[in-house]
Amino acid sequence: MKNQPRVPALWGTVLMAMALALSGITWGWCDDAGVGKKIFEAKCAQCHGKDAKGDPKMVKVLKIEPVLVDLTRSDAVKFTDEKIITTVTHGNKKMPKYVGKLTTEEIQSVVKYLRTLQTASAGAPAKPAVTPSKAKKKNKK
Ligand code: HEC
Repeated sequence: MKNQPRVPALWGTVLMAMALALSGITWGWCDDAGVGKKIFEAKCAQCHGKDAKGDPKMVKVLKIEPVLVDLTRSDAVKFTDEKIITTVTHGNKKMPKYVGKLTTEEIQSVVKYLRTLQTASAGAPAKPAVTPSKAKKKNKK
């Protein structure tokens, strides 16, 4: 035991490395996107799906074009944060409004999280923008 003065020093290094690694993890989990994830899955996923690609059941219930709730489609990815915040705050047609239900900060966190979902699917081939005419043709077959 007397012979271990170097151990604390070693532990110091190890702990520092762990602290650095942990701070990296906490940045990933506890930043706004982490809050946004919770809100998204609680409030938005029922229609937009956990992956933001749209929930097929809700598409039927709402009788809408599936692309409308697919927030990973190419034109939705290009929406500015302001546009999305406005849509979520004030609603748009069958998209409910969240004014009074979510704070501005909460909506911003959701948008931040939504961005991570959109970039996650960026590797996938880009989906076409809303083209109802084409979608109808496909259905006729
Ligand atoms: C009841 C189902 C429903 C819920 C819940 C819902 N949405 Fe939507 N959302 C829709 C529909 C339907 C549209 C398409 C509206 C349209 O353009 O006709 C939409 C559109 C959008 C759009 C695209 C806006 C645009 O201009 O095309 C965004 C962004 C969006 N929703 C985000 C959210 C977020 C974030 C939440 C959670 C806070 C949420 N939605 C919750 C149904 C829903």
